[in-house]
Amino acid sequence: MKDCRLDLDPNEMAFRKMYWPLVEAGILTKVFRPGKRQCGDFRGYCKGQRVTARRIERIGADWFGVPPIFSEGCERDVEIVSVVVKRIGDLSKADFVGSSPDVRDVKSLRYHLGMIYNLSPEEVGRNSNVTIITFNYFNEETRMENKLPIDQLLEEGVLQFASHPPHNPKTLSFRRLAITLLEDDYPAKTPIMWNTTYEALGIECTSVALVVKEHDLAKIAEALRSDQRYIGGGLGVGLKDDMLPFLDHLDQSAASVNASNIVIKQQDGGLKGYNTDGMGFVAGLNRHYAERSESLLGKNVLLLGSGGTANAIAFKLAGAGVKLVIANRTLSKAENLAASINELYGASEREPVRFCPEAEIIDIIGTSDIVINSTTKGAVGPYSCYSALAPAVLPASAENLAENHRQAAEILRQIKQGALVVDVVLRNEDTPLLASAKAIGLQTMNGIPMVLNQGVEAFSIMHGNELLSLGKTKKEVASFMAKAAGFSE
Ligand SMILES: NC(=O)c1ccc[n+]([C@@H]2O[C@H](COP(=O)([O-])OP(=O)(O)OC[C@H]3O[C@@H](n4cnc5c(N)ncnc54)[C@H](OP(=O)(O)O)[C@@H]3O)[C@@H](O)[C@H]2O)c1
Repeated sequence: MKDCRLDLDPNEMAFRKMYWPLVEAGILTKVFRPGKRQCGDFRGYCKGQRVTARRIERIGADWFGVPPIFSEGCERDVEIVSVVVKRIGDLSKADFVGSSPDVRDVKSLRYHLGMIYNLSPEEVGRNSNVTIITFNYFNEETRMENKLPIDQLLEEGVLQFASHPPHNPKTLSFRRLAITLLEDDYPAKTPIMWNTTYEALGIECTSVALVVKEHDLAKIAEALRSDQRYIGGGLGVGLKDDMLPFLDHLDQSAASVNASNIVIKQQDGGLKGYNTDGMGFVAGLNRHYAERSESLLGKNVLLLGSGGTANAIAFKLAGAGVKLVIANRTLSKAENLAASINELYGASEREPVRFCPEAEIIDIIGTSDIVINSTTKGAVGPYSCYSALAPAVLPASAENLAENHRQAAEILRQIKQGALVVDVVLRNEDTPLLASAKAIGLQTMNGIPMVLNQGVEAFSIMHGNELLSLGKTKKEVASFMAKAAGFSE
């Protein structure tokens, strides 16, 4: 494929003049493009995407960097029905149904691709890939009905397409949208995980990550409510609690921890918040113990941290019947969290959740079966080199780091053999806590099971009925998501 390729508008599809009568008559329903042009690929199209077909007045040329010029007033809206990549040599007669009359077999296709895209015979050889794009036509009335409130916010700069998440679509031209709102533009894996799963299961919906540029959450919630395409979606760190006042209903999973990571639009258009972070975390732990033919029930757990994530995890852990101690730098936060959990579960047979300051971790760790870090110690940023086991003082000077590592090593010596050390912090490499635990032969778990399982739980809440009617399980969803994100299951 040539290096020089124009970055054309993904919402447009260009047709030469000679083909326009076929477009006007609605006869042409398939086009071929050289190479791989699926959702997220450069100049790719997505299933369900709405695109404007335009007539080319003056042809362009990728290799000269000249874009086409379109004829005024010659346009039709089409919806992409499927986007399939095949080897040219594997194309069958059926693949050409709906294509223009002069592209009806491999020979004529190779000729046309070579001519239009200035490609050599080798570049359109039998082993080269071609993308088959099939579409339907919209009529004018359908088009006018689609005034789109979320597009309006993009235009106003309140929202922006996130550029870091891999394969994040750069268009909202879809019939159904699952939109994840992010406070910062970072390489979130939600779009790739969800879109791969949609594609694999044949569910018509598209996941798009948008960054909140203007913190006008009331306005954003209103647009989500009124935009017919929005069916729900994720809330990233920073918005999980900030968005709460603008939601119409809260599931108990979100109400108990005062944070929501997934919103589902209700039949009446209202927005309902759920929280699957804790469920996802506990699902990962359950799986770990099932593989060891053990149970989570009754395990002694030391949870480090009392922030948003610790809240979500702690409620679910307590519900799973563990004996929980929460340690935090700010003791009052650990105390409040323990009190809220104890209040929720009431005076039953179970042991109440306890709390302690960071300085007492050393006394408790020896009896803990599971130690979990849910603080930001060890996360990318100023605390990246600190172990979560000991206090972390900034700046990250050699002296402060050495003191943190000295205390952490002393605490680690108290940990019992066979204990599991978990760090929910997501990093490409081990956090200092996990690295030190591995070094002394302890079992460890990183943040991947949690991020994967919270996604699977959220997907199941949003698409539960569709999964049921397709006869698909959460396990299958997990498998598609894990593969898409590059996680080994
Ligand atoms: N794997 C996943 O799927 C997943 C999901 C969500 C979050 N996470 C990760 O979980 C981590 C926590 O997120 P969050 O939303 O809970 O953050 P948060 O609400 O800001 O809470 C931060 C926690 O870290 C503690 N902390 C911060 N600096 C400290 C220091 N110098 N010494 C001791 N404790 C310190 C805080 O203690 P104080 O209360 O004293 O301030 C608090 O307990 C993040 O790294 C996030 O990326 C992972």
